[in-house]
Amino acid sequence: MKVISIANNKGGVGKTMQCFQLATHLAEKGNRVLVIDLDSQANLSNTLGVDVQRTLIPEWLIGDVPFEEIMVPADGKYDCFENIFVVPSSRHLASLSKLLILSESEIRKNAGRKERLLKLRLSKIQERFDYCVIDTPPVLGDELIMSLVASDHILIPTQAQDYSIDGLEELMDTFEIIKESENSKLKFSIIPSMFNGRRKIERVRMEELSEMFDVTPPIRNLVENQESISLRKPIFKMGKRSKAKQDYADLWNSIGL
Ligand SMILES: Nc1ncnc2c1ncn2[C@@H]1O[C@H](COP(=O)(O)OP(=O)(O)O)[C@@H](O)[C@H]1O
Ligand SMILES: [Mg+2]
Repeated sequence: MKVISIANNKGGVGKTMQCFQLATHLAEKGNRVLVIDLDSQANLSNTLGVDVQRTLIPEWLIGDVPFEEIMVPADGKYDCFENIFVVPSSRHLASLSKLLILSESEIRKNAGRKERLLKLRLSKIQERFDYCVIDTPPVLGDELIMSLVASDHILIPTQAQDYSIDGLEELMDTFEIIKESENSKLKFSIIPSMFNGRRKIERVRMEELSEMFDVTPPIRNLVENQESISLRKPIFKMGKRSKAKQDYADLWNSIGL
């Protein structure tokens, strides 16, 4: 099972959008895909047709609840949804850090450090899925750190704007620390997202971003992307002329997914 996290400590940059498009794209190709929603806003869970009263992710991570009890099949009108299984979130995920402190001694016994908990849980189910796609919250907290430790590849959507580029530095510092200490095989891809090439300032920022990092082809800011989420219709299902469909096809192709 290959583990891919979508991360950026800034909100509203297109993380959940890219998780939805990636999970449905991989499932369409016949892969068994596990989606883990680690954002307490539960946007991805809802887009995949899963709505739970109270998430049991904290209990699963600690080892109090088995995987079977937290996994729910995705629900949607396209065939690809049949290959997707969701570990859904809810606002109760916000209590994760508190629970981790309370269970400290148990965690030390099982995983050594709390950062390794997700990796430990995923190691038990790795034969069951081809891919695991993880959505993360817009903070550099426990959920994001655990995802960095557990992943093979981090996709970082970022806007070609000042604050977004500044915010990247903090995330990249954390990436380097995790790579050196816990996960030497971790790799990352920076994805310019919601790009509007008609604006000169964005073109300039995009050039700066490309000088700093090796970036993927951009995902443009297009209304089709918003429609995809509100209709819960994967972008690859859009018509032949869809620009957004072409953007995603180029993106997945460029990073071998
Ligand atoms: N490429 C895009 N073009 C147009 N709208 C987009 C695009 N990507 C995301 N959006 C919209 O922007 C908003 C924030 O995206 P979202 O994926 O929820 O960000 P995040 O998960 O990083 O907070 C959503 O309303 C989403 O539909
Ligand atoms: Mg989100």
